[in-house]
Amino acid sequence: MLVAIDGPAGAGKSTVARALARELGFTYLDSGAMYRAVALLSLREPDRAPGALARAHGIWMRPTTPPNRSSTVFVDNEDVTRAIRTREVSDAASRVAADPAVREVLLEKQRALLSDGDWVAEGRDIGTVVAPDAAVKVYLTASAHERARRRAAELGADEATVLAEQALRDRRDIEREHSPLRTADGAVTLDTTGMDVDQVVQRIAELARAAAAER
Ligand code: DC
Repeated sequence: MLVAIDGPAGAGKSTVARALARELGFTYLDSGAMYRAVALLSLREPDRAPGALARAHGIWMRPTTPPNRSSTVFVDNEDVTRAIRTREVSDAASRVAADPAVREVLLEKQRALLSDGDWVAEGRDIGTVVAPDAAVKVYLTASAHERARRRAAELGADEATVLAEQALRDRRDIEREHSPLRTADGAVTLDTTGMDVDQVVQRIAELARAAAAER
């Protein structure tokens, strides 16, 4: 069974998806980490097309079940778990994610992973493109200010700067031609402004249990 969680940057997807996977005993997939890995490669080798880099390098993750922290992300044999979390990589990730050649490579990898077992997968296009047949689809969002506040606290960065960078990434994710961020058909929208993590997790866990009971 698959629970798909999509939404804009800073909506709390990773925290919620990890806690939910723990609650349900499912495996967690952070699809954004794959785009970040391609972005890192592209910053290192700016003269090569990102799609070619995605194809040429082994991008893979070691998921933890149940997940207590981020999955370990590898490029070939290098552990890039920390290197992909910089602001420079965040910015580059939203650019490489607009490239259809990159999306094609990562889509194939994500579908292969999700074809077997029970998963909570989060990203921007899980419910719309990667797995439109997911048993549960959630569009997680929060006000722009709340999202920036959360990210700034997490990164120890200035809130106004994070808000400006976030607006740019939101626009790229929403306006891109290929697999733009949008609410999937049949998705439940959850605005997490003012909700705590546990409330959100319990709400989605209820949806997952109801979907399981219907099968
Ligand atoms: O969730 P994140 O911030 O780690 O994602 C990094 C970038 O990758 C973000 O700009 C959106 C993009 N992304 C995407 O286009 N599709 C996904 N399924 C996941 C992430």
